[in-house]
This record gives sequence, C-alpha cells and structure tokens, in this order.
Amino acid sequence: MMPSHAGSVLLDPALYDGVRRPAEQATPLPNWCYTSDDFYALEVEHIFKKAWNYVGHVSQIPNTGDFFAHEITGMPILIVHGVDGAIRAFHNACRHRGAPIASGEGNCKRFTCPYHSWTYTTDGALFATPMIDEDDNLRHAELGLLPVRLERWHGFLFVTFDDAAAPLMEWLGDLPGNCAGYGPESLVCTRRVHWDVGANWKLHFENFNDSLHIPFIHGGTLNRQKVSGRKRSTHEDIQGEIITHFTEHEGSRGLIHGKTGFEPIDTLSGRYTKGTYYPCILPGTMMGWTIDCMWIFELHPTGPRSVRVVGASFFPEERTRRNDFDEIAQSYYDRMDAILPEDNAAVEMQQMGLRVPVQAASKFTHMETLCHAFDNWIVDQVLADVE
Ligand code: FES
Ligand SMILES: [Fe+2]
Repeated sequence: MMPSHAGSVLLDPALYDGVRRPAEQATPLPNWCYTSDDFYALEVEHIFKKAWNYVGHVSQIPNTGDFFAHEITGMPILIVHGVDGAIRAFHNACRHRGAPIASGEGNCKRFTCPYHSWTYTTDGALFATPMIDEDDNLRHAELGLLPVRLERWHGFLFVTFDDAAAPLMEWLGDLPGNCAGYGPESLVCTRRVHWDVGANWKLHFENFNDSLHIPFIHGGTLNRQKVSGRKRSTHEDIQGEIITHFTEHEGSRGLIHGKTGFEPIDTLSGRYTKGTYYPCILPGTMMGWTIDCMWIFELHPTGPRSVRVVGASFFPEERTRRNDFDEIAQSYYDRMDAILPEDNAAVEMQQMGLRVPVQAASKFTHMETLCHAFDNWIVDQVLADVE
C-alpha cells in the first residue's frame, strides 16, 4: 500500500499532553482532531485500515446471491453471500482497470463490471471477459476479486484490511460473554435507517458516551425515563477494544416512556434484567442491549467533517414472526427516529464551535469520563508508531 506521510507534523506527542492527564484535569482532543484533513488521514491509516470494522449483519443478506456494497472511510468493499453459502468480503474494484463491480445492495448469480463487462462469480472468481480470450497474459484464475479478511461473531460481520490483525474475538474482548444472556445468535436486523450528519465521527461517539447531555438535548424524550443509576467502566477495566457503560432504569430503553412493547428476553439474569448495557466497539460501532431488543448506531465517516450514522434495530427472530410484530416494533423505531436527530443536531452544533482558532474546549466533567477514555484511545492509535 502507498505509505502515508500525511499529517506527520501532527504526530508530536506533546500536542496531546492535555488529553493524557487524569480525566478530572484533562482537556478534550485539540480542535484540529475534529476539523483537519490531515488528522483524518492519520485516522484512516492508523485506525480504519487496522481495526476490525463492523460492516453489517448476516440477516441483511439472508439468501445466497445477496450482497451489499459498503465503504470504510472511502475504501469500497463488497460483502457477498455466495451461492455456496459462505459469506465473503472483497475489495470492490474490478481486476481489469479498477471500477467498482457492484453498488447498493441486491441479489445476483454473477457480478458484471459496468465498464467492460468482466464477470465474477459470487466467490470472487473471474468468470468471463467478453471479446477478450484467455491467454498467457490474461489468465482468469489469477484475476479473481481481491479478498478482504472477514470474521463474524454470530451474525455480526466485521472486516479488517490488516492481515496481521489478531482474531476478531480478541478485539471484542468481554463483549460476547457479557451479551450471551441476550441470545445474540437469535437476533435479526429488522430495520436500518441512516442520517448524513455534518460533524466529525468522533463527536458522535463521544456524545453516545456522555450522560451529561441527556436532560438538555433529550428533555422531552429520553429524559422522561427514570434512571436509577449509571455504572461506568472504561477500557482500562475491561478486555477488548471496547468502551462500555451500564445504565439502570425501569422498563425498556428501546421505547419512549409510556409505550408498551415486547416482553423481556427471558434468558437475561442479574443486572441485565434491570437496565441497558452500552458497549461501543472501537472505532465506530455503538450498541444498546436492553431488556427486550438491541440496536446499533454505526458510524461511517465520509470525511473529516461528516459522518453517515446508521441506526439498525434488532429483535429475537421468533418475535419477528408474530402477526403484530410490525405494529409493536414501530414504537421502537419511533424512539430511534425521535432521539437520534436530537443527537445529530447537538454534534453539528459542536462542530460549528470547534472551528474557532483557539482551544476553547477545555473540560471533561465526571459524567464524561468515557469521552476521555475514547480520546486517549484515539491518541494511542494515531501515535502508536512514535510513542
Ligand atoms: S474495469 Fe471492469 S471490466 Fe474494465
Ligand atoms: Fe443523546
């Protein structure tokens, strides 16, 4: 791959001394981390090309031949449910002269490149090159789609561009064990919606882990639900590339207060029957596991100052077969559609202020310690080769 020298001036550890202090004395990341093209280029190189990136759930491609195209910080990939039943990921670029061979989502037996119609099977093999015969200089067997490493936890699909990366389960650490009672193997994704937001992706991650904003930004929605306690943990206490918190409350966090939904998942025990577990898989996958459902906010950066936020709703598969499923599930979707735009507006507002030419943002409160943990993780990754 092409080496990147972008932003090397930003690789001086002294620039991040403020973030490195204990949370109560620390300052947030410098403004440029949310605004500059060079810092974003460093994140692409040191974070998104190395991490296990969540790309979607197998229930989005249940049938053989189903596929979806995706981009990880501008790098196009293709996820395919092969006719042999295997799920694979490929770089979404034709082996002829590089055009993407698929876009959007759909179902097919073969992919045909829109440029010169080279055709590939669902396992990535080059199948046909119209008008051009195979010869010693063009062997089909050598020109299959280039694979991207894909691993899965139940139906949750992750890819990495780093062939040397440790297995996915190491990246996920404590998360699979903590989620076992929810029956993650039986969950299916029933709806995905997206919002294009004019803010750096990290502001959304921080917002999800900032409990101070709830009464102010969600005064008429989320804040009406009684919260009895917030238990936080940082990635210093837990295994894996995750940042988590747990909130104790009444009822389901998937519903607006006062709405009725599904009965609780009956395999839950202990604290999981009394609240919501919020593990965020670094870099950009934020989950909420509550007593009767699960949702994910996926952060897909589209540049330094913009992010596509996908909201994906999950329920146990047997529930989706109920006659009244759609009607009841709508109450959960309504909750997401009410709350996420409030967060989007908050982070867009913050992005505006971060354009000032001085370092105005200077404080974490005790309700934002996870933002501090996240900011330190970012610095850990970006400076990994120089510290
Ligand atoms: S670039 Fe795909 S067939 Fe030419
Ligand atoms: Fe929020």
